[in-house]
Amino acid sequence: MFKCKNCGASSLKWVGKCPECNSYNAMEEVFAVEAEHAAKVVKFKKTHVSPPVLSTVALDVQNYNLQNRIVTGIKEFDVSVGSGLVPGQSILIGGEPGIGKSTLMLQVAGKIAAKGIKTLYISAEESLNQLILRAKRLKIESEALFLQALNDVNEVLYSVLNGDYGFIIIDSIQRITVSDSVSAYGSINGLREIAHEITSSCLKKNCGVFLVCHVTKDGSFAGPKTLEHMVDTVLYFDSSKKDSYRILRCYKNRFGSTDEIGIYEMSENGLKGVKNPSAYFTSERQAGSPGSVITPCLEGTRAMLVEIQALVVPSYMPVPKRVALGIDGGRVSIVSAVLEKKEGIKLSSKEIYVKIFGGISIQEPSVDLPLALSIASSYMEKPLMPNFIAFGEVGLTGEIRGVANPEARIKEALNLGFGNVLLPLSNFNEVKDLKGFSGVNFHPVSKLKKIIEYLI
Ligand SMILES: Nc1ncnc2c1ncn2[C@@H]1O[C@H](COP(=O)(O)OP(=O)(O)OP(=O)(O)O)[C@@H](O)[C@H]1O
Ligand SMILES: [Mg+2]
Repeated sequence: MFKCKNCGASSLKWVGKCPECNSYNAMEEVFAVEAEHAAKVVKFKKTHVSPPVLSTVALDVQNYNLQNRIVTGIKEFDVSVGSGLVPGQSILIGGEPGIGKSTLMLQVAGKIAAKGIKTLYISAEESLNQLILRAKRLKIESEALFLQALNDVNEVLYSVLNGDYGFIIIDSIQRITVSDSVSAYGSINGLREIAHEITSSCLKKNCGVFLVCHVTKDGSFAGPKTLEHMVDTVLYFDSSKKDSYRILRCYKNRFGSTDEIGIYEMSENGLKGVKNPSAYFTSERQAGSPGSVITPCLEGTRAMLVEIQALVVPSYMPVPKRVALGIDGGRVSIVSAVLEKKEGIKLSSKEIYVKIFGGISIQEPSVDLPLALSIASSYMEKPLMPNFIAFGEVGLTGEIRGVANPEARIKEALNLGFGNVLLPLSNFNEVKDLKGFSGVNFHPVSKLKKIIEYLI
């Protein structure tokens, strides 16, 4: 019998495309015992559980949130999980092979243990010797950190249930095996069973758990996706174009915001937080080139300067190409249509390529105005004024609308010496009287008209 690993639909024959959810290559064989087990009717039986607890008596939610957070001291990591870990939190941390998951986890384990919380690092990929060598290289010394090299899920469960640990790290969940499982090794069903057993045992012991898992670059291995609902927090490591930089992104968080990112640099002593992301994202910019615009965007509560580049070239195709990397393609089409209508720039016969640098993507509406400027700048082959930044949302009628937190954006720009600020009029009214902005050269706009004035 064959079952779809995405939706669970079953079929007697193997088929390339699931008849229920239409996903390709998702059918996998389940063995007869499992199929039989699934077919059994659920039997209900009488049981006893402890009575429910009245919420107001049991815990003061305020105190719980504020006092019980475990701050690791690795600033970028604490930011990504939303100001520290919660005791008993389960976290899935995914990333491509070799990106630095084990390094970060060992560093985090070291920091948690340094706070006197008994922590166990279980490696299913490396031998104990290799683990110790890595810990030595990363200079991790703590009386409360325990290392173990295990592969079998029963051994792992024994360690979890008999150790009284505050946090356990499983590196990686895909390498944990079950000797008597009905599911094939490495299958999605097997992975789900193992993760379920481990997270349930940790929940019983109120022990936090980190599940490390691999994802491939093309996302073809959908395994970790199926584990996301079992855990409190999901973190993914993205690598940027520059090899030594990694971005830790939060995709789900039951105890904090998912907007925050952490930026790290890999070095011999492990992963180090990047103190000034704006300088990193704009470091290799060629000032004075047409098509390049710097914009301050918000990632959670932090503002970062990023570079947008556009290239406008003639098209010889009936439908001109529009390619966008790190930015929504729909946004590029809308902004170019408004530019054509309001500025008279003939873009309908041009190919437009847009790219955000540094391997990050921007979803914010504030990117509209700098995007319009970079397209106009490339079209006219004219660069922007020096030390220039822009932010603002563009409406379909050509109006420029205000965006959130202009103060943080301008402060970040000033830190890096960008003193010419093109911004929506409403945002200008918010910040014009603020202290510390006296040296800023503001260019407030309320309509997408004559923005080519800012090109030189
Ligand atoms: N001595 C060293 N100096 C600098 N960087 C190192 C050193 N040793 C390892 N690295 C870096 O660490 C990275 C591997 O880190 P790590 O083993 O934590 O990754 P991982 O995501 O756990 O990999 P895997 O998926 O194979 O388990 C390598 O890509 C390398 O760049
Ligand atoms: Mg590893």
